[in-house]
Amino acid sequence: MMWMNVARAQSLMPTRGTEVASQVSNLYSFLLIVSFIASAILIGGMIFFAWKYKRKTDNDKTPYISHSTALEFLWSFIPLVIFLGVFVWGWYVYHQMRDMPKDALEIHVVGKQWAWETQYKSGVKASNLVVAPIDTDVKLIMSSNDVIHSFYVPSFRIKQDVVPGRYTALWFKANKLGEFHIFCTEYCGTQHSGMIGTMKIVSREDYDRWLEEESKVGLLPLAERGAKVFQVKACASCHSVSDAVVKVGPSLWQRFGHEEETSSGEKVMFDENYIRESVLNPNAKIVKGFPSNVMPSFQGQLSEVEMAALIEYLKGLK
Ligand code: CUA
Repeated sequence: MMWMNVARAQSLMPTRGTEVASQVSNLYSFLLIVSFIASAILIGGMIFFAWKYKRKTDNDKTPYISHSTALEFLWSFIPLVIFLGVFVWGWYVYHQMRDMPKDALEIHVVGKQWAWETQYKSGVKASNLVVAPIDTDVKLIMSSNDVIHSFYVPSFRIKQDVVPGRYTALWFKANKLGEFHIFCTEYCGTQHSGMIGTMKIVSREDYDRWLEEESKVGLLPLAERGAKVFQVKACASCHSVSDAVVKVGPSLWQRFGHEEETSSGEKVMFDENYIRESVLNPNAKIVKGFPSNVMPSFQGQLSEVEMAALIEYLKGLK
């Protein structure tokens, strides 16, 4: 019966994508079941005794009972053993999670309002996407561009704060192919809930192929490179490229070559220079109706080629 409960409790939890995730799940299920049994004994016993020893007549007398050493010893000793067991078990699992493997495949992850930027050693970048090979020790080296974020992969049962000004790390060894959720679990501003990504576990061959294909991005036409820049620099977190959706910032759909009205009532042409100025100095000319001081400056973060690619991409949105 107990093992039926374990299976049931675990089916309510996220998929287990690593060995560590299974261990965390087992420990958690054990805690759930022990708590359930303890509550049943406590509440059940209370109800049973209340019914059994209810005062039935006016002549009933409460018997005088001082204590029972054996009973008191047992109800202290048994929980003590269980708690110490849980402590040792938890210690063991925790150390497995926190001891970083040597020679792991290292991937850099940068948190920023409001996206996860992934950087591979070969120079390949991705946004809100971590691609990693199966059955391989992978170490994530994480930092933040702005505020505290927290990187969480429920299916791997790993979570770590991502803090500006220092590096933190996580590791995992996936044993399941597929896509898993990445969440930000530290409130980091208006789009915190949208700061989600995908952990994609692929075979070693698919991983190598993906890296190779991504590194060819440099040979793409400018507008396609611009589309990449738009994703990688997380422009897409705040600017939509359709007329149906408006996010924190104005939609960029069909804006090129049109006039915008700024918050100060000026008219400005949405052209190459306006894009450049808005990327490097976002508060210079805010489109009317949108908040200022929201977009960070991308000064020093885009090469001239990337800027050109971005402009070509925005030109082509029609
Ligand atoms: Cu980043 Cu919440």
